[in-house]
This record gives sequence, C-alpha cells and structure tokens, in this order.
Amino acid sequence: MILFNEQTKTFHLKTAKTSYLMKVLESGHLVHLYWGKALHTDNLDYAVRRRDFFSFVANTDNVQEFHLEALCQEYPGYGSTDLRSPAVELEYADGSSATDFRYVSHTITAGKPKLAGLPATYVESDDEAQTLEITLLDKVKNVEIVLSYSVFDAYDAIARSAKIVNKSADTVKIQRVLSANIDFKDSKFDMIQLSGSWARERHIIRTPLRNGGQCVESRRGASSHAQNPFMALVRPDATENTGDVYAVSLVYSGNFLANTEVDMYSNSRLQIGINPFDFTWQLKAGETFQAPEAVIVYSGEGLTGMSHIYQNLYGKRLMRGYWRDKVRPVLINNWEATYFDFDEVKIKAIAKQASEFGIELFVLDDGWFGERNNDDRSLGDWIVNENKIHGGLKKLVDEVNAMGLKFGLWFEPEMVCPISKLYEAHPDWCLHIEGRIRSTARRQLILDLSRKEVCDYVIEAVANVLSSANIEYVKWDMNRNMTEIGSAALPPEQQRETAHRYMLGLYRIMDELTTKFPHILFESCSGGGGRFDPGILYYMPQTWTSDDTDAMERLAIQYGTSMVYPTVSMGCHVSAVPNHQVHRNTPFATRGICAMCGNFGYELDLTKLTETEKQQAKSQVAFYKEVRELIQFGDFYRLQSPFGSNECAWSFVAKDKSEAIVSFFRKMAEPNCAFATVYATGLDKDAKYKDMRTGEVYGGDELMQVGINVPYAITSSPKPMEGESNMYAGMIADAIQGDYGAFIWHFKKVD
Ligand code: DGJ
Repeated sequence: MILFNEQTKTFHLKTAKTSYLMKVLESGHLVHLYWGKALHTDNLDYAVRRRDFFSFVANTDNVQEFHLEALCQEYPGYGSTDLRSPAVELEYADGSSATDFRYVSHTITAGKPKLAGLPATYVESDDEAQTLEITLLDKVKNVEIVLSYSVFDAYDAIARSAKIVNKSADTVKIQRVLSANIDFKDSKFDMIQLSGSWARERHIIRTPLRNGGQCVESRRGASSHAQNPFMALVRPDATENTGDVYAVSLVYSGNFLANTEVDMYSNSRLQIGINPFDFTWQLKAGETFQAPEAVIVYSGEGLTGMSHIYQNLYGKRLMRGYWRDKVRPVLINNWEATYFDFDEVKIKAIAKQASEFGIELFVLDDGWFGERNNDDRSLGDWIVNENKIHGGLKKLVDEVNAMGLKFGLWFEPEMVCPISKLYEAHPDWCLHIEGRIRSTARRQLILDLSRKEVCDYVIEAVANVLSSANIEYVKWDMNRNMTEIGSAALPPEQQRETAHRYMLGLYRIMDELTTKFPHILFESCSGGGGRFDPGILYYMPQTWTSDDTDAMERLAIQYGTSMVYPTVSMGCHVSAVPNHQVHRNTPFATRGICAMCGNFGYELDLTKLTETEKQQAKSQVAFYKEVRELIQFGDFYRLQSPFGSNECAWSFVAKDKSEAIVSFFRKMAEPNCAFATVYATGLDKDAKYKDMRTGEVYGGDELMQVGINVPYAITSSPKPMEGESNMYAGMIADAIQGDYGAFIWHFKKVD
C-alpha cells in the first residue's frame, strides 16, 4: 500500500511487515526518512534534523542549518550541496556536471508497469502491487528523473527503478544512473556480498562496514562469477533467523556496481545499478533512458527472512512462463561423460541407461554442430554435424524420445569462433575496436549484440534448430567475458554504450526465443554460474549453478546461491570421481544428497557405473521424484554454514509444513569425534512428524529444539539399506563413516 500525506508531503510505502518513508521538503528536495519494521505513522518530520556545522558543509539554498549532506537523500545528484557518492551524474552540453533535482509531481497507480526492454518483476493482477512514480526536475537544464517504486505487499518487497527524461533541446551525457540509493543515519552494519570465481561462485563474505567506500562490481560484461549483483547491510548481531537485514539485488546481467559509503558523520549509503565504469549514454533531446530494476528487501528476521522474500518473489513474480510452477525433470547431461568425443551411438547408450534409472531428460551438450570436435571452432555455425550425429538431429531426438526421455540441446548463441563460417562471412559482427587485437578467450569472440542484424541472425539460427526436431530443453551457455568492447555500428561518442546495448540486444533475443518456444525449458549457464542473476532468471527459469560438480565445493556454492535465488532455479548434478574440477573422491551417496538441493541430474557416463552405483542411482532418482515438489518449491532453510566449518546442513520445508527434508554433510572424518546434532527449522511445533526411513515419530518442537541425532559409525561398518520397497535402499547407509559423508532425513506430518 502507498500512502501520501498531503500536509506533510510524506510518502509511506507499506508492505506486510515493512515501512519505507520519504518526504518532499519545502525546498522540493526528496529526503529519505525511514526503512525497516512496519510503522503506523505517516509523519516523521522530526527525523529531518537541522543543525549547524563548524565548517566545510555547504548550506543548501544558502539557508543556515539546512545541509543536504547531513540528511538522508532519496536519489542524490552531484555537484550541488551533497558531495557524497551520487546516484546520478550527468554531463550537460555546456560541460557542467552539477545537478539539482527537485520534486515536481507524483502518481500512485494500481499494479506495476513493464520496464521497456528490460527484465523486471511483474504482477499477475493489479491488486498485487501499487506503483509510485515521483518526477524530479533539474529546472536549470530541463532534465527529469522519474523514480519508480512498486510495492509488493504480500511478498514484502519493493521494486525500484529510475528513468531519465531529456526535456531539453540538447544532448545530455549520462555518466551514472543507479537504480536505487538508500541512506542510513548510522554505520553500524556488516556488509554481505556473494563473491568467488569460476568453479567457486557466490561464497558468502561478511565484513564490518568501514569509513569510506566499499563496493563490489563487475567490469566483465556479465554479472560474473566474481561478484553477484547483490549486497546486504546487516546489523552486527544479525543471524540466520534474527536481526535486521537490508538488501539490494539488481535485475540485470551486465556490468553492475553495488556500492556503500560511510561518510564523515557515520551516515551510510547503499547503492546498486549499472556500473558507471566505462559507461556513458548520449541522451538526445526528447529521449528517455530506463535504468534496470533493483529489488530492495528489509527483513527483521535475519538472513533466512531476507532469502525467503527474494526466493518467493523471484520464483513467482520474476520467473515466467510454462515452467515457472512445474516440477523440473531429472536430467542426464553428456558433457562430463564424453566432452566432445561422442557420436549418436554413444549418446543413445547413455540415454538408454538413463531411461532405465527413471531419468526424464537427455541433454546433448557442446560439440553437435559445425566442425566442433574441440573448443577451437564453429561457434556461430548452428548446423548439426552429421559426421557425428549420423542420420541427423531429428532422428536422434526421435530415438531418444522413444526411450521415454525428453531431448535437450546446448547452444552458445552469443559467440563466434574466428574459425567458423559465420566469422568468414561477417568479421565485423563481433565486439572489437578497429586497429586493436581481438583477444580470444576459449578461442572465441563475442557477437556484437548491440546490432539488430546480429541479434536477428542469432534468433533465426537458434529457432531453425529448435523447429527442426522435438527439442524440449535448451542449455544456453556463455563462456567468456568482454574485452576490447566496441561496436563497428556505433559512432565514436556512443562506443561506451556498447556493453549496455549488448544486454538490451541479448534480452530481446531471449524474449523472442522464449516467447516463440513457450514450452521449451531454458536453463542458462555461463561456464556454470557466471551469469546467475535475476536478469537472466526472468527469461530462463533455471541456471547451471557452477561448473564445479564436486559435492564438497558445491556445499559452499549452493549455500551461497540460496541467499537470493530459489532452489528451483539451481541446476545440480551428480558427476564422476575423481571429480573433474578438484580430483576429489566423494561417495556416490554424498554426491546424490548434495545434488538434491535443486534441479537434480547426472553428468557422467551412466554406462560405466558399477552395479552398486546403478542401484544407488535408481534409488536416488526414485527418491528425488517422490520429494522434488517439496525441494523445488518448499522453503529452504540454511541450518549449518559450510564456511569455516567441517559440517553443513540445510533443509526444505513444504509451504504447509506437512513435510520436510533435512540434509547433513561432514567434510572430513574426525577421530574420536563428538556427537553431532542438526536442529530443524520452520516445522509446525505442535505437529508430529514421522521419519520416513525408520518410522520413528517425533514432535516438530523436538526436531527443532532437541534436534536430530546424526548417526556416525565410528568402529562398526555402516549397513546398507536393503529391500526393493525401501526407497532408501542403496541411496544411503544407516550411518556416516569416513570423509565426505552425508545423511538425509525425510519427515512427514502424521496425525
Ligand atoms: C561450460 C559449461 O558450464 C559446461 O557445462 C559445458 O556446457 C561447457 N561449457 C561446454 O563447452
């Protein structure tokens, strides 16, 4: 709900549990008043404090004791009397850069409008959200900023964005236009970021906020493996389940900045948006620039509270389409099984084995097109290689379908290899700067998606393949970052628009293809999780979480990813040992339990499994199918963090609390170790739950307060579970022994 108090000129944005207040001062400046737990009031005038400073803080409008720099700003400009980090920075035709934006008008409407050309959260009916648009004007230059706030009551979140409208007769150069700015009147916070690298994505880092600037950003042309477009400021005493958390998440897949600043009076500022680094935009007279959407979330219930808000909103009002609410198929992907070395015979053998395990989807990965027998050529030439797939794609797809499996196909549509027919025909279609080397990565260049004709080619080439056979799933890969960013089609003054124009082109491609093929399940990938961001989730409802398939590494990656992203968005596979990324040998059971933290699948040569492993795989698939609705669409709880700890635990609880899965992992065996206990969360404390493996019944209160005993086998050997009717048969033994152990419990409410 959005309220406006005419007398005090105060906006009060209310969600189910939160309040966000701002006010128009008499001078027209828009100041921020409050964000946090719900308030009743719509007048916080006393929060706008005025006082004198000894020196160095300029008077706003030359009024004594009126200092913008000492007040919380809603969307600060630069060069006037707030000298902190701005949200917007412009260069006007006369070369000046001072801005002064003041309130002109506002509207409050039901629902939420779309963001032109950009992914964004949405409503299914107008009563799900209200939208406030506040127009600010720099009168001297006749340039407007429209700040937009869509308040999702039930989801407890606010989606923000900003657009610049050039009403002047001159071109304005945009140098910085962030999507959200939030000022706090103290700096007692820790900062949480999700950082890492290829094969080590989204590790949780928590550090105290300090004076000056601290930021995470991407300059890589993608949201990246290194940083995620997310940041949270949390009170130092905030935990998983308690305390104040203030978070921002950007619905964008390119270069971004998530920034904090603590000023000399210990006020802090939190910002997120397109990275101003290497970005400018020529906004001609009459034109509008739309910044991406930022979703801001306050939780008074710790990090779990924050994650649940993001997971629910992104799962239901960012992801779209046919697959949004559908359980996702168990898949087998041939990448780590064969790499480039396959033909249709090998593929069919793996598919056959998969069908016997109850697997539902076969995914043919890289290497099926052009002359691609390794990674040195053919990206861009999306024509099936009949020397490998004898008889063609349709025949293979039909045969796999006849085994009872859906068929999926890998693409990397944004790329071109210098050795390819596409590059021969169009050498200027890649991102490049005339006269400079075109640096390859994985022996490929990036197509210039800022150009319409290049996007049109990509749409047509992919659509042709998708229409040629019964393809029901696409893995959309992207395996390098941008260098020498330039476009042959843009004039010199617009070269620094290329990276953002690329994203707009990419979003158009994804929009057109997902609209044209609404029943295809699209999974995005960028060398694993190099573009695991809300922007891509809008088009593709699942992402390959990481190229690192090692179960122990995955604990940290999946745990970190769950901070923002729904379980149903994460692709997680069982792969071979020694693991191909870290050469670790983990038990098959542990790999299975770990991969059951999202969309479950396999990525190894199933024909090479031992008889015991085959039995285990069958049990895993059967068990996962039994519980996948709960895993994919239940509430995810982080129970024990793998960061800096030998143990890790998480759980999934059905929305109606009727059922739960608890998973526990021990990295290294310890001699003479202590008892281990896992404390469940989120259950119905008054209900009874049956352990489906043992038949034992416990109170929900017991499972949460007394805890669940982790069975460690110290001296005896764990016994494998047996029996055809026992779903656990082969999947887990009755106790954990040795390194890299895991255990899983399934509880169901009983009367
Ligand atoms: C990187 C992906 O993350 C892998 O899963 C695989 O698809 C390869 N690319 C194929 O080149």
